[in-house]
Amino acid sequence: MPGEDGQEDRLGALAGPMRAAAARFGTPLYLTDEAAIEAAAEELRGAFPDPWIRQYSVKANDVPAVIAMVCADGRGLGANVVSRGEWAAARNAGIPNDRISLEGVGKTDADLRSAVQAAREGSPLLWIAVESTDELAALARIAGRARVAGRADLPTPLEVLLRLNPEVAPETHDSLAVGAGGSKFGMTETELSEGVDRFAAAPGLRLRGIHVHVGSQLGAVDAWRDGIRRGLALLGLIRGGLDDFDTLDVGGGFPVGRADETVPAPARFARELPDLLETIPADRRPRRLAIEPGRYLVARAGWIVGRVLHVRARGGRQVVIDAGMAEIIRPALYGARHDIVALTSLGRPVDDDRSTGAGGSGSGAGDDDSTAEVHGPICESTDALGTHDLPPLRRGDLVAIRDAGAYAASLSMTYNGRPRRRHVVVRLDA
Ligand SMILES: Cc1ncc(COP(=O)(O)O)c(C=O)c1O
Repeated sequence: MPGEDGQEDRLGALAGPMRAAAARFGTPLYLTDEAAIEAAAEELRGAFPDPWIRQYSVKANDVPAVIAMVCADGRGLGANVVSRGEWAAARNAGIPNDRISLEGVGKTDADLRSAVQAAREGSPLLWIAVESTDELAALARIAGRARVAGRADLPTPLEVLLRLNPEVAPETHDSLAVGAGGSKFGMTETELSEGVDRFAAAPGLRLRGIHVHVGSQLGAVDAWRDGIRRGLALLGLIRGGLDDFDTLDVGGGFPVGRADETVPAPARFARELPDLLETIPADRRPRRLAIEPGRYLVARAGWIVGRVLHVRARGGRQVVIDAGMAEIIRPALYGARHDIVALTSLGRPVDDDRSTGAGGSGSGAGDDDSTAEVHGPICESTDALGTHDLPPLRRGDLVAIRDAGAYAASLSMTYNGRPRRRHVVVRLDA
């Protein structure tokens, strides 16, 4: 059954394939469940149907096979990238430039040149979103030079969105609240309007609209709504003098809840739009609306399979596994919690119902508590994965970390000499 966030628990279907993958490829490993990606993409399309432009934020998971799955033909998703590296990953996944949008907090001149060059070659990106007037000035300079050095004009202008800092207080972890005033993300309304005034006629560029992203893992719709309201109002004002300025990209941020959490589904966010649009005169509304979610599309689909290394009595049961902050840094970075389930207990496969310790009969470490503090293998005490209900475990047992498809593999590291991990994709017929 789908949860509050519209996504279903697939543990029952995946426990067997995860054990098989661990036996074949070793642990730790990332596993991606294609059916979960498909379901999330459908849910998103239902909430934001065409003609919404749906761009997958590749930063959530940049494994080319995953990008290709998310953006497969027929799903109607393009790719939103933040660097030339992600752009190359999207191209490797088979996505053409006209379905790729480039944003990113720290674009270098080389990044900007690449975007201009693609337009000059007649294969422009969908758009580039700029973060500051400095960046817009640099882009205009590069596009202007390309025009002089190359043909009489760029065959196709490079379309540009300007990122607005909506100055809202998002309902999320401080580290994910990028739309807060004073943050390093985007421009103030004044800066953005000045940027439009200065560069509306810049050769080779076509200023098309506003980009807003209030934050990630939003626990409520309020800040999202406020951010969009500001974006719409400013876009409406600017459109009065610049008819082309007709696009509003409202960013990502749709949350993925744990089993014990209630979070709004994409459809709940989408319900805010009609009323917001009504407040703007019809001829000042955006002609194009876009979203760029990352986490929602891939988080649920991803699992990390790990193996138990130590089980000790330390006041309670302490379990150390071979997966940790090198594979999933979110707990160490933001205090994020990822539920952990057992795939085997004392060497025997466990099914759906016994994968947590609820009602379990001991820990394997000399106490009768079903809870365990789980730690990763890295030489940092912040490499801790929290307290979980788990059945009896011993060295060699398999566990799985849930909802690990977003901001895990793409944030992985080789600290402590750890190799990059295998990534397995599961396609089940059922
Ligand atoms: C500008 C921008 N858009 C989209 C996203 C994707 O956010 P999420 O994965 O929460 O949907 C992010 C995440 O950091 C972002 O910074």
